[in-house]
Amino acid sequence: VPRDLLEQVSQLEALFTVDAKKLKEITEHFVSELDKGLSTEGGSIPMNVTWVMDWPTGKETGTYLALDMGGTNLRVAEITLDGKRGFDVIQSKYHMPKNIKTGTSDELWDYIAGCLEQFLASHHAGQEITNVHLGFTFSYPCTQPAINKGILQRWTKGFDIDGVEGQDIQPLLDAALKKRNVPITVVAIINDTTGTLVASNYTDPFTKMGCIFGTGCNAAYYEVVKNIPKLKGHVNDDIKPDSVMAINCEWGAFDNEHAVLPRTSYDVKIDEESPRPHQQAFEKMIAGYYLGEILRLTLADLHKQGFVFEKQDITKLDEPYTLDTSFLSRIEEDPWENLSDVELLFQEELDLRTTEPERKLIRRLAELIGTRAARLSACGVAAICKKTGMTECHVGADGSVVNKYPLFKERGAQALKEILDWDIANPDDYPVKVTPAEDGSGVGAAIIAALTAARVEKNL
Ligand code: BG6
Ligand code: GLC
Repeated sequence: VPRDLLEQVSQLEALFTVDAKKLKEITEHFVSELDKGLSTEGGSIPMNVTWVMDWPTGKETGTYLALDMGGTNLRVAEITLDGKRGFDVIQSKYHMPKNIKTGTSDELWDYIAGCLEQFLASHHAGQEITNVHLGFTFSYPCTQPAINKGILQRWTKGFDIDGVEGQDIQPLLDAALKKRNVPITVVAIINDTTGTLVASNYTDPFTKMGCIFGTGCNAAYYEVVKNIPKLKGHVNDDIKPDSVMAINCEWGAFDNEHAVLPRTSYDVKIDEESPRPHQQAFEKMIAGYYLGEILRLTLADLHKQGFVFEKQDITKLDEPYTLDTSFLSRIEEDPWENLSDVELLFQEELDLRTTEPERKLIRRLAELIGTRAARLSACGVAAICKKTGMTECHVGADGSVVNKYPLFKERGAQALKEILDWDIANPDDYPVKVTPAEDGSGVGAAIIAALTAARVEKNL
């Protein structure tokens, strides 16, 4: 292996490795930022109140429609809760066309209303449908003056649609539904983390936190009302100081002021060139939307410095966001022996020939980026545990990164062990454990719609 390439590898290792001491420092700062977000002054982390004020009992029943608008897919589901911690789901998945993500507000809501109309037409053909109640999982930061209102604070995950930020999304969807005569009422607007939290707790009451490690990254948990100073003025006979409310942290915004995260020049570039610079500092280092871009920028820089792909045309590699997280997963899945899949990937996707030492560097770089993401993500989980005093719990988790990225869960668990100083050999015995909650959001939306209906009935 050429010496300069070996040197590059150790430089990259120094750049992307986050040791236990740094993880602890980040976690400490995270805890204080979570508190700040709940205070009247607020901070970078929005800590959005959700008006989800009940833990599920497991006895919820009824059939609800759920709409799930995440980063990649749009899903419509009809969910029947059986009252015994179980449920049935009928669902359809719709692709979110790329042009919708940067198009106009009207196009977005009309597309969504069209999917809902199509769902009802195909699953309830010939039936007379009257007022259907919908739980809408809208996975972007929203200020919620009530459970069925959601004022978009800002787009995240690369979305950039004019005319929605600062607006309540409920009347926007409502108008698009009315235009098509679709008899649906939005009864709850929910973040995917809140949905995941509620759905996971419904099936496993030991779950106290809901996380998404996917295109974006975020968490929700239940906070005691008296610990939410910014709710002051709302606490009355209905909302007792000792009751709880689910908080959608929006922790992707952690460290927007750049106080502790070990950002590289690549992270800085991603931020500066994103449609929302200076936002989502934490998310931009750890979430699926960005991991491929971190790899791409690093490789393009190494090429510029003359270390890789010598004398080759890197036009394809120069294209922003051309590599997605599955590209990194595939690199990490390739066994070290000959890295033939890496060779093929670079040849087929980027028209680049690679030497064996280059492939080894690429493989190590992917590992560094993936490991950093998992370790930094663990700081958020540890911070919520520390803030709430939880020492044991399950963390319901969903999203393409936690579900598909090799070793993400294991690396995160190792980091949690280092941050929380567990002296436990077997990861199966770790007291805080990330558990899969695949497709939890839809079910969570249905449970929240049921809980909301119960509250309305009790006149709470
Ligand atoms: C899905 C959930 O399974 O995961 C969505 O239903 C969530 O609500 C999504 O937004 C997150 O994963 P990704 O990878 O699509 O961002
Ligand atoms: C982004 C969104 C947040 C969502 C997360 C995971 O961080 O702002 O609302 O929960 O992605 O999808």
